[in-house]
Parts: sequence; structure tokens; C-alpha cells
Amino acid sequence: MSGHLTVTDDEATRVITLRRPEKKNALTQEMYRTLSEAIDSAQDNAAIRCLMITGSAGVFTSGNDLDDFLKAGLDASGAPRVSNATNFLYALARNGKPLIAAVDGLAIGIGTTLLFHCDHVLASTSATFSTPFIQLGLVPEGASSLLAPRAMGHHRAFSMLVMGRKLSAEQAREAGFVNDVVAPDQLEAAARKAAQEICALPAEAVAISRKLLRPPAEDLTTRIDQETKLFSERMKSSEAIAAFTRFFSRKKG
Ligand code: COA
Repeated sequence: MSGHLTVTDDEATRVITLRRPEKKNALTQEMYRTLSEAIDSAQDNAAIRCLMITGSAGVFTSGNDLDDFLKAGLDASGAPRVSNATNFLYALARNGKPLIAAVDGLAIGIGTTLLFHCDHVLASTSATFSTPFIQLGLVPEGASSLLAPRAMGHHRAFSMLVMGRKLSAEQAREAGFVNDVVAPDQLEAAARKAAQEICALPAEAVAISRKLLRPPAEDLTTRIDQETKLFSERMKSSEAIAAFTRFFSRKKG
């Protein structure tokens, strides 16, 4: 359990709630560590039949903490980057339990790419989805370069992942990675209803079928490794360091 997120088992559903609203739920290394633990520890727990991830009212997450990116970019030690973020992505790739997301407000960067690892996504009418990796001098992560074109086709994936175009909830539903769009005050109830529906199904048949529907975990971890290598190189680029610095100096101005 981290101060910035809670993990609660509600009957057969493990609910992970991001709670760092003062920083728009930006994800720290500590939050990634707790997220991975919550997913990994559910794998051999037969009592948990479904996982759910959600954020705060008005913000799912603004993505990776940019201060962490800046520090990693400026680190000249040459030491291999120990990243809880990568471990979180592995946890998503290897996860065998149905995963639901309930998104209200901003879903930026990994806040959007993690949705491609989900099985059922609910969005509120105020949700927006964006992946400004290229604007930050970076490259897509989280196996999104594999999963996004698979989910929405190359052209829409390019528009979002490379051109950085933001999608509304309705556009994300049309693109195929959001199931339903509901009013913000209906979001939690809709997500819990979907969880109950999944939990009521025969668990073994669900697990086998889910595995059939998804690319093999090894394909996902291989792509995550390729992206992570490039992402780590890009974090040290002058384009990326300038973009991170610009974000924080914008705040001072
Ligand atoms: N990393 C670190 N801090 C972040 C953050 C992030 N990803 N997103 C927001 N914050 C912080 C801001 O620095 C600010 O902190 P402060 O109050 O101490 O100055 C606080 O959260 C509120 O953000 P603010 O920018 O004032 O709110 P806003 O409503 O004007 O804008 C966002 C919200 C999310 C649109 C804007 O903060 C943003 O663009 N964040 C960066 C998103 C991003 O590029 N993520 C990485 C994707 S790979």
C-alpha cells in the first residue's frame, strides 16, 4: 500500500485506486511498485477473479511523473535504470486476470497505454486520452506500439501515438479501446457491474479464453524491452530534456 494509491479487495474484485490528485495522479516509482505488487499477488489468489484500476474524480492519471523523467534524463552515471515502471508493464503483460479500467478525466501517457492491456474499459463523458510521447522527445511504451495498431488500426494509432492527437471518450469508444461511455456519476457503478458480471462467470474458462484473445505474454514483454531500450536512450536526448525542463519552468512563470 502506498500513500498515493489504495488497493482494496471488494469481494472477488481487487480495486486499485490512484490517489495523488494534487499532482494529477502522476505516477511515481513507488506507485508503480505498489501497482505491480497488487497485480502480481493476485495471480495465484483464486479468491480474486477480476482486477479494476481507477483514478480520482476528474483525473485518471497524467502519466509518469515528469520530475522522475527529468532526473533519469540528467543522470550521467551510465548505471542501468532500475525502473519500477518497466516492472509494472511486465506485470500487465503477464497478468492472467480480467482487468477493468474506469476512466474519468485525464488519461495521459501510460494512463492511456495501460488501457490496451485491459479487457473492459469504461470512460466518463469527461474522459480524454492522449499520449504526448513524441512531443516530449520520447517514443511509445508499454507495448502500445504493438497493441494500439492491433486495437484501432495503424492510421488511428499513428494519429494518437505519433502525432499526439487527443481523443474524447466517444472517439476512444469509436476507436475500439473504450467499451462504454457513461456520465461521471455513473462510472463507478458501471465498472462494478462489469466486474460482477465477469466474476460470476466460470473462472477457468474465462482465464483460458482471455489468454486465447491476447497476444502471448512473451510477445508483449519482448516489445516492452525494445521500447524501453529506445525510451531510455530518448530520455537522455536534448529534445526530451528540453521538453521536461519546459514543463517545470512553465509552472514557475
Ligand atoms: N509529472 C509531474 N507533475 C505533474 C504531472 C506529471 N506528469 N502532471 C501534473 N503535474 C503537477 C504539476 O506540476 C502541478 O504541480 P504544482 O501544483 O506543484 O505546480 C500539479 O500537478 C497540477 O498540474 P497543473 O499543470 O497545474 O494542472 P493543469 O490542470 O493546468 O494541467 C495537465 C494538467 C495534466 C494537463 C498538465 O499538468 C500536464 O500536461 N502534465 C504533464 C502530462 C505529461 O506530459 N505526462 C507524461 C506523459 S508521457
